[in-house]
Formats: sequence, C-alpha cells, structure tokens
Amino acid sequence: MLKNPEHRLETIRDKRDLSVFDICSIDDLNIKDIDLILRLAREFRQIGNKKYSLLKDVTVFNAFFEDSTRTRSSFELAGKKLGADVINISSKDTSIKKKESLLDTAETLNAMRPEVIVVRTSKAGIPYFLSKHVNASILNAGDGWHEHPSQALLDALTMLDHHKTLKNKTVTIIGDILHSRVFGSLVRILMKLGAEIRIAAPATLIPQDLEKTFSCTVYYDVEKALKGVDVVYALRVQEERGASGYISTIREYSKSFGVSAKRFALADKKAILMHPGPVMRDIEVHSALVTMDQSRILNQVENGLAVRSALLWLCAKRIDNRHKKIKLI
Ligand code: CP
Repeated sequence: MLKNPEHRLETIRDKRDLSVFDICSIDDLNIKDIDLILRLAREFRQIGNKKYSLLKDVTVFNAFFEDSTRTRSSFELAGKKLGADVINISSKDTSIKKKESLLDTAETLNAMRPEVIVVRTSKAGIPYFLSKHVNASILNAGDGWHEHPSQALLDALTMLDHHKTLKNKTVTIIGDILHSRVFGSLVRILMKLGAEIRIAAPATLIPQDLEKTFSCTVYYDVEKALKGVDVVYALRVQEERGASGYISTIREYSKSFGVSAKRFALADKKAILMHPGPVMRDIEVHSALVTMDQSRILNQVENGLAVRSALLWLCAKRIDNRHKKIKLI
C-alpha cells in the first residue's frame, strides 16, 4: 500500500538532521546535507499543492530587508503549506525605520521564540552575525554580494533533474560575477558536486584572484566559454549595486556577453539555459530564449518552493532535539 506523503517524507529523512543549525553559506553544508535537502525537495515537489502539519506549532519570521519576488514568496508559501505560522517583516514596516539596531531587532524577534528566521539583507555577513545572537535557525536568503544558499540548492536540483550527475559536466556562468551573491553560492555548490566551471564576463566584473579562490576557468570571450558546455547560466547585471559603472553601456554588454540563439547553439545539444531571475530580457538573455524548450528558468522557480520546504522542515524540526546554546535576554 502507498504511504501517505508525510510518511514518504519521514522515510526519506530517516530520522536525520542537517549537520548545522544555520545556513549562512553553502560551505556550511556537507555533501550528505545537500543530498538530504535535494531528496526531500524532490518529494515535496512530487506532492504538489497539498497542505501538511509538518510544521505545526512552528513560527517562521521571513525578514526581508531587500526586495524579492521569488525567494520571499516561496519561503512564505513553503512555511504556510507545511502548517507554520509565517510572519513577514521588512525594513519598511518595522522599528528599524526608527533606528532600532539590527541586533536589537533580532533579539526582539528571538524573544518570541521562532524556530527559523529567514533573512535577506543588503549587507554581507549579517546572517552569520545574527546566527551568533539568536536561538532560531538562520537561513540566509541573500546577503549583499556574498551568498544566496537556497538559490544554489534549487539550481543544483534543476541541473540534476536534467543531467543526473554534475561530475564531468561543464557549467558556464556568464555575467556580473563581481556583485553576484548567486554566483557566491553557485560556485561553491558546483565545486562540491564535481562540476567543471567556466566563467565568462568582462574583466571589470570578475573579482581579483577568482581562479585562485575557486576551481574555475575565466574566459573573456563568451563564445569560447560556451563551446560544448552542459549548462549555460546567465546572471543579471546588477545595476542597483553599481554594475553599470563597470561596463561601457548595457547595449555593448549585451552585444559582447548576452546569450543569443547563435551563442546558445555553441553549447552541447542537450544543454540547458538557466538564470536566477529577475531576467532583464534582451540584456543577459535574448527574449525568445527565456521560454524555449531548453530553458529551465521557471523550473528553477518551482524547485525553489520545494527546496525551501525541505530547508524549513529540516531546520525547524530537529530530530535530535538539540538547541543552539545562546543565552536569551
Ligand atoms: N533569484 C532571486 O533571489 O530572486 P528574488 O530577488 O525575486 O527573490
């Protein structure tokens, strides 16, 4: 007899916890953690729009101090589908506007005993700082130019849906590497999963010593970077972080690095196109490619909901019942 969805999830979880309380970086996760998150995410995706009581009596604060469509709504939807109380807060409608410090804000939220605080912020390192001051699990939903771990997990799931393994597969990441927290997490997970990584960008948008920091090869010629690859991953030019000061014009950038049909055809026949969104059509990717068969851009969004469901369940309901040892105010 088929088990019900919650039983199937429990079976996959097999009484396991993540090795960490907080996910501020992909480097916090070992390969077993990643495997568990992705296996659970596949099951959550399979189950679809059903409601659960897996997170009954759980409180999640969704603290977004920077704009978001995909990440905020999918964490909120995931929490609600799993039966948690989800409270959304932003800098626009909190006492941060009255100059309350972030630490005081965090300790105030923590005093309400949430199990998880999801945080997006324009400042790199804030999730790590918070993780040292609150008992709730901190999930980094994007911090400045640093990292966006749940994005990398959903990206890995999307690649593995298509290619089964990333060992001996090549991923070309094109665009604004310098300002991209998506890149910060993606490069780390791709290295853990054994992919070969190529970078294509104008020299001004590549951080110094990138090839020494990460196992990757830098190309300044996008067409060479695309030859025979298995995944084409375009990044947004982050004008809100000053990227336009690093290129001559957006039009010139698009001409030199935009993914066109002709350029995409240089990749392997089975290659897929990805982008974390929001896509600036006809800048990073030519508009017609966004919805072509090989595009996985909306699959990434669907996988985001599944991955974030898995993350919330794993972080909010620990089997080992251990808690962070932080003295509450
Ligand atoms: N990819 C991503 O983080 O999108 P949002 O800014 O819409 O959440």
